[in-house]
Amino acid sequence: MRNETIAIHGGYEGDSATRAVAVPIYQTAAYNFDSAEHAAALFNLELEGYRYSRINNPTNEVLERRVAALEGGVGALCVSSGQAALHYAVLNVTQVGKNIVSVPQLYGTTHTLFAHVLPQLGMNVRFAESDQPSAIEAAINDDTQAIFCESVGNPAGNICDLEGLARIAHQYGRPLIVDNTVATPILLRPFDYGADIVVHSLTKFMGGHGTTLGGIIVDSGKFPWREHAARFAMLTEPDPSYQGLVYVERFGAAAYIARCRSVCLRTMGAALSPLSAFLLLQGIETVAVRIDRHIENARRVAEFLRGNPLVEWISYAGFADSPYHGLAQKYLRGRGCSLLVFGVRGGLEAGCRFYNALRLVKRVVNLGDTKSLACHPASTTHRQLSAAEQRKAGVTPEMIRLSIGIEHADDIIDDLDQALKQSARPRPPTG
Ligand SMILES: Cc1ncc(COP(=O)(O)O)c(C=O)c1O
Repeated sequence: MRNETIAIHGGYEGDSATRAVAVPIYQTAAYNFDSAEHAAALFNLELEGYRYSRINNPTNEVLERRVAALEGGVGALCVSSGQAALHYAVLNVTQVGKNIVSVPQLYGTTHTLFAHVLPQLGMNVRFAESDQPSAIEAAINDDTQAIFCESVGNPAGNICDLEGLARIAHQYGRPLIVDNTVATPILLRPFDYGADIVVHSLTKFMGGHGTTLGGIIVDSGKFPWREHAARFAMLTEPDPSYQGLVYVERFGAAAYIARCRSVCLRTMGAALSPLSAFLLLQGIETVAVRIDRHIENARRVAEFLRGNPLVEWISYAGFADSPYHGLAQKYLRGRGCSLLVFGVRGGLEAGCRFYNALRLVKRVVNLGDTKSLACHPASTTHRQLSAAEQRKAGVTPEMIRLSIGIEHADDIIDDLDQALKQSARPRPPTG
């Protein structure tokens, strides 16, 4: 099936108990075992079934199967937020004294997780000088466990050369982990270009309505953990925290995601509520049609901004003269995405006047909603970064990030137009 169909039907063949057409919300913490032996077989992972909703749940399982199918993976694990997904995805293959190598253009909280929180746990992140495969290669050392990037960087809008990054990662025997939140599998499936693990904040375009936090980790099932057994002993040697289970032996291609569930989610507990899984599934049903409209509206808005004398600069990969145009042709099916950044003429002060004057477009730190949203990264999402770190992450003081929604494009443009006019108005005299 194509992704447009998988988004609606994937992972659900009907509820055997009720024949419900919509995915039922199994709002239960626990499951009644037949016997002590039945419970033991479930806990030994010898039998498939439900044990406790922190570990697995039938509603969440539909979400996991659906997103795994959309991305073309062997399995997925849903968690309570995108941030939890990122944390677990990395923790699952690293340990004290080891590091991962990351591109510098990251969502602000991911940067903070990597630069400050993981080091407190004894795991380092080596930030490459750029997102170029050669820069990633230069940052790899003996202790590197994985390579990380955002397929489309938030907010920089850079598009990573996934094929090039996967080639370097695999040359050194490391997996490539990709945050595919901004692109979604409707535009880009990183596994098609050699990525090994995909992470999403489902809060954004996938859920799509700005109502529900959620995250997911998807396993391609292709990384040869056994070939690099010494480096990935957590997957290839007996796990003392789980009765000596060897994940690659018991789960084969799905070893990574099985360990992520049994170790990261089971013990650290950022479980997704089944009600949230249901809401996210509702959103995913329309993701393909929404993305088309988001992108078409973004193209119209980008053209309006480029032609406006009150706009100093705009970065949009859909323009033929964008440095990312070629990568957008290859990785985003020739389309830009609906996240675009620009600077108001007149710098930070004019930018603030523009921002404060918005009426339809909401002033928020979210993206990927049906509603058009504006964010000022330097004062919000990337506030914890130093000026130099902000520059490396692609954030400038005056930059405004727009996430273009699916309203009528003319209404979005009218609002931006009136706010730009406000940005140019001289300040009223004081005193
Ligand atoms: C690219 C990216 N990844 C991850 C996250 C974190 O997701 P969540 O807010 O669901 O924790 C965000 C949030 O904005 C994001 O933009």
